[in-house]
Amino acid sequence: RWTTSSIVEDTVAAIREQVGDRRAICALSGGVDSAVAAALVQRAIGDQLTCVFVDHGLLRAGERAQVERDFVAATGVRLVVVDAVDRFLGELAGVADPEEKRKIVGREFIRTFEQAARDSQAEAGEAGEQVDFLVQGTLYPDVVESGGGSGASTIKSHHNVGGLPEDLQFGLVEPLRALFKDEVRRVGLELGLPETIVHRQPFPGPGLAIRIIGEVTAQRLETLRAADSIAREELTAAGLDRDIWQCPVVLLADVQSVGVQGDGRTYGHPVVLRPVSSEDAMTADWTRLPYEVLERVSTRITNEVPEINRVTVDVTSKPPGTIEWE
Ligand code: XMP
Repeated sequence: RWTTSSIVEDTVAAIREQVGDRRAICALSGGVDSAVAAALVQRAIGDQLTCVFVDHGLLRAGERAQVERDFVAATGVRLVVVDAVDRFLGELAGVADPEEKRKIVGREFIRTFEQAARDSQAEAGEAGEQVDFLVQGTLYPDVVESGGGSGASTIKSHHNVGGLPEDLQFGLVEPLRALFKDEVRRVGLELGLPETIVHRQPFPGPGLAIRIIGEVTAQRLETLRAADSIAREELTAAGLDRDIWQCPVVLLADVQSVGVQGDGRTYGHPVVLRPVSSEDAMTADWTRLPYEVLERVSTRITNEVPEINRVTVDVTSKPPGTIEWE
């Protein structure tokens, strides 16, 4: 019988066997899979692993700190943080089309990571070593899905690490290849990762860029981040995190409506709450959140975020609506 600790032991041994005394690199997204994969590899080979975290400025409040502070504290991993906020916002300037945004973020992510990988190879080269392995958080369902040819990626171009140029050659280390999501979470807890990372709800690779309907700007990101963190705080306080699959908050940045806030007329933006229940994200139902929770979220967002004067709830299932708006 496979216990979580035997999974950890066996996987760590297999990684040591595969990597030996060579070096590996891993892109951290802030999500569960890359975090657990990196933690396993760190446990196996220590400082022969370098993790790279690309801050593209499209993350939610506190997520960079979660990786930089909490993940590092829990694992002792060697981490390089690349601040690429200006680069991503520059490339996204003037772009409102959803697929275009996805492609830009995917492309820039690979370029940024590639540069970090080259830097790491150069540094290893000076020490007479080589970075030979790329760590990926591929799960068992991903393995099955890519073998079976899923049609999902034709609906939206999904963003994951991959597609590195040919001169950057790596062997792949995929320590989660035999595991399902719930096993990955158990392994994460066994390795001492923080709950906030282990139980993080799904978050798309293109991040908040696809939750701003319209052009992505620094100001709009700040507005959305503020609204999103209020919604997350209230859902957590109400004990609903495990009941909902995820709850995107979407900023309708090109829509304005009249409101009255404080003493005067406002002409602000709406946000949409998109709480969904799902087993696997292929289909989803809109979650019937308690009215008291909706009320608190609405009151707080309109009080605390001056740019927002209206809060709405998306009551569409998937299909026909996808979970994300873009
Ligand atoms: P949709 O919007 O297609 O989303 O119903 C299904 C699930 O996938 C997440 N999502 C992504 N995850 N890269 C990811 O890793 C992406 O580009 C991406 N786009 C959507 C979404 O949050 C939901 O959980």
